[in-house]
Amino acid sequence: MRRFYKGPDLSRVLSVAEMAALARHRLPDFAWEYLAGGAENEQTLHANETDFSRLRLTAHTLVANHHPSLETSLIGSTSALPMMIGPSGFNGMLWPQADIALAKAARAKRIPFCLSTVSNASMEQVRDAVDDLDLWFQLYSLKSPSLNGDLLARARAIDINTLVITSDALVVGNREWDRRNFARPRQLTWRNKLDLLRHPNWIRRVMLPNGLPTMGNLNPYLPANEQSALGAMKFIQEQLDTLLDWDKVARLRDQWQGKLILKGVLHPDDAIQAMKLGFDGLVVSNHGGRQLDGALSSIEALPAIVDAVGGQIDLMLDSGIRRGSDIVKATALDVQGVMLGRATLFGVASGGQAGASRVLDILEEELIRCLNLMGVQSIDELSSDHLYRS
Ligand code: GLV
Repeated sequence: MRRFYKGPDLSRVLSVAEMAALARHRLPDFAWEYLAGGAENEQTLHANETDFSRLRLTAHTLVANHHPSLETSLIGSTSALPMMIGPSGFNGMLWPQADIALAKAARAKRIPFCLSTVSNASMEQVRDAVDDLDLWFQLYSLKSPSLNGDLLARARAIDINTLVITSDALVVGNREWDRRNFARPRQLTWRNKLDLLRHPNWIRRVMLPNGLPTMGNLNPYLPANEQSALGAMKFIQEQLDTLLDWDKVARLRDQWQGKLILKGVLHPDDAIQAMKLGFDGLVVSNHGGRQLDGALSSIEALPAIVDAVGGQIDLMLDSGIRRGSDIVKATALDVQGVMLGRATLFGVASGGQAGASRVLDILEEELIRCLNLMGVQSIDELSSDHLYRS
């Protein structure tokens, strides 16, 4: 990108790519790499975006332009748009109270928001801050059944009806930038410490008020002297159930009466298995290219999954959404909508809630323009007839 807007007026940011450039400018290197980086050679990270360009849109001309109808059902939740904000960890490194900023931006657009197990704000804090939000919770299943049970009970107690189990991060992907940025666990290298000095606004916003944010959902399970980001990371390393399998998720199905979604499906056989176990929906996802490098991009994996499930289970997709036309393409391939990860995080890193809202506005405007240019009057009309694979 040759030029991009660096000032305070976010309405002058015109695309998600431009918001990414602004986020890059505002964040210290280590936080930017955490946000934008993928695993190993980042093949899957890049393919998630570029594979959308292998799908071309067919368009009808001379269709009167109306505001297209965009409301959709996302695995049982009503959403004003075929998109929602998906789960991501440690958002407080990008902006103070970033989880709450994202939740408010989602609420303003009347779309759901999914909070991660490893968020900084706790689920109760998010609920208190934004009470009429359609709030979902993403579970990293823990070894201890009683801790899992407690997380689920807390979610139920604050009217969370949708649980998302992430299945593709039982082992953390090989993120070399992360290993390079830290001399010891959570101890930045000297190069990164010097780089921090080039970002006094980030230090003032993120670090000075309370230091590195803690992980709100996990604090009740940590000893009093370990209620820190470091303590929570140690806890998650020890407690994450790296042996999670189909039998165990079947038991979680029995424990959770609300909607249950599996996120991290790329293989049609797994989609069928999840369907048999009574999951309500799937998210076709490779974790934003942060896990298995060389895995199929989500948009590439989708058609085989759509064929395998034959409309019997609800589908969403994440990874690589940067334009309204990407949402059109995924929807035409038969997902109900998409989860946004980095797109809204670029916004929050650039300007908190206002930045996330700006990204949602950009994607909504692009989506409407794209449908108008295609002669499509409702998101429900989209089908694979609107796509041409080059
Ligand atoms: C956590 O889920 C991450 O991708 O960093």
